[in-house]
Amino acid sequence: MYDFAPDSALSKAELHGELLSAADAITAGESDGVANMANVAALIWQYLPDLNWAGFYRVIGQELVLGPFCGKPACIRIGWGKGVCGTAAAAAATQLVEDVHAFPGHIACDAASRSELVVPVLRDGNVIVIIDLDSPSPARFDSEDARALEELAALLSSRI
Ligand code: SME
Repeated sequence: MYDFAPDSALSKAELHGELLSAADAITAGESDGVANMANVAALIWQYLPDLNWAGFYRVIGQELVLGPFCGKPACIRIGWGKGVCGTAAAAAATQLVEDVHAFPGHIACDAASRSELVVPVLRDGNVIVIIDLDSPSPARFDSEDARALEELAALLSSRI
C-alpha cells in the first residue's frame, strides 16, 4: 500500500516539492510506462488542488492518444497541432492557458474546464507524451505550476 497524503497546510511550493518527491519515489525502478503514468496521474490529482482533469496523452504516429488520467472520460485522439494539447506537442513547449474559451481551437472534453496547463515530455529531443491539467477555475495555473510540471516531465522522460 502506498500512503501519499499531502498536508493541507502546505504552501504551493511545498506541495510541488512533495509531488515531485512522491512521483520520483513511486516511479523509481519501475520500467512500465503505463503503470508510472497511472500512478503519477493519481498523485497529481491528490497533491494539486482545484483540478477537474489530470493525465497524459501519448504521441502515437501523427496524433495524441489518451493515456492514464483522473477525471471525466475524455477525447481519445487529438490531432497534431490541434487544441491546447496538440499545440503543446507540435511546439514542444508548455502551454499555460488562463482562459480556455479564449484559446483558438480549444477542445472541450469537460465543459467545466476554464483554465489549462499542458507540458510536453521530451526524450532525445522528441515529444513522446504530454501532461495535461485542467481546472474549473479561470487562471488556476501560473509560471510556478508550469516550472513544477516541467520538472515532473523531465523526471518522467526516462520512466514512461
Ligand atoms: N482541452 C484539451 C483536450 C484534452 S482535455 O482537456 C482532457 C485540448 O484543448 O487539447
